[in-house]
Amino acid sequence: MRGISDEKIKELLRSRLKESRYIHSLNVAESAAELAEIYGADKEKCFRAGLLHDITKNAPDEEHLELFRLAGITLSPDEMHNKKLWHAMSGAEYIKHILKIDDEDIYSAVRYHTTGRAGMSLIEKIIYIADFVSAERDYSDVNVMRALCVQSLESAMLYALRYTIPDLIRKGQTVHKDSLELYNELILKGKDETYDTQRNS
Ligand SMILES: [Fe+2]
Ligand SMILES: [Fe+2]
Repeated sequence: MRGISDEKIKELLRSRLKESRYIHSLNVAESAAELAEIYGADKEKCFRAGLLHDITKNAPDEEHLELFRLAGITLSPDEMHNKKLWHAMSGAEYIKHILKIDDEDIYSAVRYHTTGRAGMSLIEKIIYIADFVSAERDYSDVNVMRALCVQSLESAMLYALRYTIPDLIRKGQTVHKDSLELYNELILKGKDETYDTQRNS
């Protein structure tokens, strides 16, 4: 890949992110490269998208809003309300406009890493899941997710959504339509069968 090197990206991450977030980004890159190997995706690209996925995570509100202005993005009311969604959208624009990395695959993998969406590409799915299974993650079901994601990325995505959507609802937060559309798509594809097998075995 031409342009900025992964080493330069790491330096930049170190300067922009808190230490824990920097470590998380390195781990997501590693997990993404492993999943790329398993599923036959572009390993270098997945590694790089993993490195970059949280590039604006620790940015102040003004920086996100400036990036939205630059990219001509108008936030929907629920996007405006849920600031946790901002870094996925602003991160993609940072990569495109500030780092000048002209790569649609990396752009959309970062853009949709928080909400997911229906019709995700392989690299989008890999970054979405790598974010859940990176080495430092230690939530109660992380081992289920780690086992599931090497069998089926989509089953792992459904497993994650079965937790994250109710969690948002319990906390009184909005649920982004892209996540609901992804959930519906996976249910209609019959991905819950794997889930049920998993739960009953
Ligand atoms: Fe993120
Ligand atoms: Fe992340």
